Amino acid sequence: MYSISETKRFRGEITVPGDKSISHRGIMLGSLAEGDTYLHGFLEGADCLSSISCFRKMGIEIERDGSEVTIHGKGLHGLKRPSEILDAGNSGTTTRLMSGILAGQDFSSTITGDDSLRTRPMKRVVVPLSEMGASIDSENGCLPMTIHGGSLHGIDYVSPVASAQVKSCVLFAGLFADGKTSVSEPAISRNHTELMLRGFGASVFTDEKKHFVQVEPEPVLRGQDITVPGDISSAAYFLAAGLICQDADILIKNVNTNPTRAGILKVIEQMGGKITYHNRRTVSGEDVADIEVMSSSLHGTVVSGDIIPALIDELPVIAVMAAFADGQTVIKDAAELRVKESDRIAVVTENLKAMGADITATDDGFIINGGRPLHGALIKTHKDHRIAMSFAVAGLGASGTTTFDDTGCVAISYPDFFDTLSQLTGKSLN
Ligand code: S3P
Repeated sequence: MYSISETKRFRGEITVPGDKSISHRGIMLGSLAEGDTYLHGFLEGADCLSSISCFRKMGIEIERDGSEVTIHGKGLHGLKRPSEILDAGNSGTTTRLMSGILAGQDFSSTITGDDSLRTRPMKRVVVPLSEMGASIDSENGCLPMTIHGGSLHGIDYVSPVASAQVKSCVLFAGLFADGKTSVSEPAISRNHTELMLRGFGASVFTDEKKHFVQVEPEPVLRGQDITVPGDISSAAYFLAAGLICQDADILIKNVNTNPTRAGILKVIEQMGGKITYHNRRTVSGEDVADIEVMSSSLHGTVVSGDIIPALIDELPVIAVMAAFADGQTVIKDAAELRVKESDRIAVVTENLKAMGADITATDDGFIINGGRPLHGALIKTHKDHRIAMSFAVAGLGASGTTTFDDTGCVAISYPDFFDTLSQLTGKSLN
C-alpha cells in the first residue's frame, strides 16, 4: 500500500504521458482511414488499450511498441463484425465514441465494461443514435448494450449535456448518415474530435459562439502521422502539487493547452497561482506549451458556468487546491461529476473531510472553506484513478501520513504516476 507524507521540496523537470482523449480518437479515426496512421506518444493507459482491443476485434491490425502505434486502417466501411463482445473495461470514452461508429455498421455488436462502467449512463448516446435510426438494446440505459447498426439519417441534435463523448458519438455516427449531422451543446466541450476529423480529411463546420458542430457524411479519411501531446489532465496533479508544496519549482514539458481542455490554467491564475508558459507551439493541430509552476499562496475562487466542461476531469484536484487556499471556493454547475468513474462529488467530499477539510457537497459541486490544516488519512479511492492522484497531491501538503485503499487504478490514465511523483519529491513513496 502506498503512503505519502508531507513534502516541502518539489523540484525538477518532467513530461507527462500522451493525452487520453486524443489517443482514443487516434485509434478510432485511424481504423476508419485509408492507409496507415502513426500515433507518437500514445497513452499506454488501460482505457486507451481498451480502444485498441475493441478495434482489433473488428479486424483492424494495430501494432504497438510502447507509445508508438501504427494502425492499418481499412477505410470508412472496413470494420468486420466482432466475433466476441467488445469489452471497454473502465472506459466511458471507448464506449460512447465507439457506439457512434457501431451504429453506422451493417452488423450487430455488444459492448460491455467493468463494474463501474456498467453503472454509468448510456441513454445519453442511445437517444441520439436511435433518432438517427439505430436500434439499441440496453437494460435501464446501461451496459451491456447491443447496437444493431444500419442506415442512419443525419440529424440536428440539441444535446442536453455539454459532453464531448456525446458530441463525438453523434459526429462519428454522422460519418455514416445519409445527410449532414449536427450537434449543439449548452457549453463548448473539448474539441479534439472536430480537430482530428478535419486533419483526416472530413468536412466539419463549427460555430463556436453557438456551440455548434456539423459534419458531412461519407468522407474519405486518409491515414495521418500524429504526435500526441502530454495530457493536461495528468499534468494537473503536478501543477497542483507545485502550487501547494512550499519549496517547489517544476517544469512540465509538452502539455496540451487546447483552450477547450485547459480551464484549470485559468482557475490557477484566478487563485493566485504562479505559472509561466514557455515555448508555446502547435503540434498536430493542438496547442502545446511547457509549463513552469512555483509554490504559491492560493486564495479561494468561484468555478462555474461555461468553463466547467474545460476542466471537468480536473475538479477533484481543484477541490484539493481549494482546501489549501485561503478563503472560500465554490464549485457549481458540475453535476456531471456524479456520473464519472465514481460519484466524484461524494468521494472528494468524503476524503477531504477525512483529512480535516471544511467541505460541503452540493447537488452540483462543493463549497470549500480553505486554509484549515489537513492531516493524513486513509483515502478511499473507489477505484477511481483521478481520486487516487488528487489525494496523492493532498497527502503532500498534509501533516502525517496519507494511505490509500487502492492505487492500482492510476493505470487507467497514468501508469507511472507514482514514479514521477517520487522523482519530484526525491522520496520513495512506498
Ligand atoms: C472525454 C470527455 C469527458 C471526460 C472524459 C474524456 C473525451 O467526458 O470527462 O474523461 O475524451 O471525450 P464527458 O463527455 O462525459 O463530459
